[in-house]
Amino acid sequence: MDETNRQVILTARPSGIAQAEHFAVRQAAIAQPGPGEILVRNHYLSVEPAMRGWIADSDNYAAPVAIGSVMRALAAGQVVSSGDDAYQIGDDVTGWFGWQDYACVSTDQVVQRTSAAEMRASLGILGINGVTAYLALTSIGQPRAGETVLVSTAAGSVGSAVGQIARILGCHTIGIAGGPDKVRRCVETFGYDSAIDYRGEDVGAAVARIAPHGIDIYFDNVAGRISDAVLPHLAMRGRVVVCGTASIDCWMPWPQGPRVERHLLVKRARMEGFVIFDHMDRYADAVAQLRAWIAEGRLTWREEILDGIEACPDALAGLYRGENDGKRLIRLV
Ligand SMILES: NC(=O)c1ccc[n+]([C@@H]2O[C@H](COP(=O)([O-])OP(=O)(O)OC[C@H]3O[C@@H](n4cnc5c(N)ncnc54)[C@H](OP(=O)(O)O)[C@@H]3O)[C@@H](O)[C@H]2O)c1
Repeated sequence: MDETNRQVILTARPSGIAQAEHFAVRQAAIAQPGPGEILVRNHYLSVEPAMRGWIADSDNYAAPVAIGSVMRALAAGQVVSSGDDAYQIGDDVTGWFGWQDYACVSTDQVVQRTSAAEMRASLGILGINGVTAYLALTSIGQPRAGETVLVSTAAGSVGSAVGQIARILGCHTIGIAGGPDKVRRCVETFGYDSAIDYRGEDVGAAVARIAPHGIDIYFDNVAGRISDAVLPHLAMRGRVVVCGTASIDCWMPWPQGPRVERHLLVKRARMEGFVIFDHMDRYADAVAQLRAWIAEGRLTWREEILDGIEACPDALAGLYRGENDGKRLIRLV
């Protein structure tokens, strides 16, 4: 076992997206688990756009990460010491282990058991990203065969899963992504019927051209100007799944934009927010469904692996620069 535990600490609270200078890597002693705890050697650390919200000191669904503490993160690794009979040395687990080499945590921080083969997937397609895609699309979007589903961040981890699941359920799919490479990947890798480059095209005009009868489900991961361009094209009784707000720079005071109420009223449309943590009772069933689709060859994903804990401080800002090609993970082992 290494002698020290490298930890990525939040050192300052940014007003916007956390940059590399808001974190530091420090060395700490490796704690030993007490009763009901396990010591996990992290193999992969997850990088999520949602970390921006976990860091921000404004209204959110969870308390902000404290300055001076280890950055909150999902991670996957192996149990190396256990104070809980339910967990043995060598068990592979995914959970709230933070951006660090070793996590000494209560076993209620474990999200799911995994395996060496599925460790990376357990942080992406078989983890929070895939489960969010499946549950948010089916519970709020309620897709029916033949409907048109439009997805923002369509080449990303959540978005690419949404597009493929909508297609499995018989829907016509349109992706929105940044740049020609991601747009090509949407169609060639993730099976979207068509895709729009929001950096190079007029999004509203493209949606009108591709979906003249309107959008039945808009799975929104970005909000802001992209959504402003999409919402006028909702079909009658359209549904908007509000899953992420990646393009909103400032949450407080509320950003100003078009007023959508009248438009929702006329279209009898519904707009609803989704937070995965409200749906943990359905997590295991969702993973089982996703795993079955993967086994059938109907669901694929991409991962982008950065090496070493030193990659953590800039990894979140990189997501907001759109650098990632699929699920961004940090490999430690
Ligand atoms: N509500 C929930 O429970 C829940 C759970 C998990 C994830 N999410 C949300 O789902 C979304 C996708 O997450 P992910 O993990 O799959 O990340 P991801 O899509 O793999 O990566 C983030 C992507 O967001 C896009 N992006 C970043 N800044 C943007 C901007 N200003 N305007 C437009 N697009 C921008 C970039 O793609 P382009 O290069 O295409 O612009 C970037 O690659 C995020 O909004 C996240 O918060 C929500």
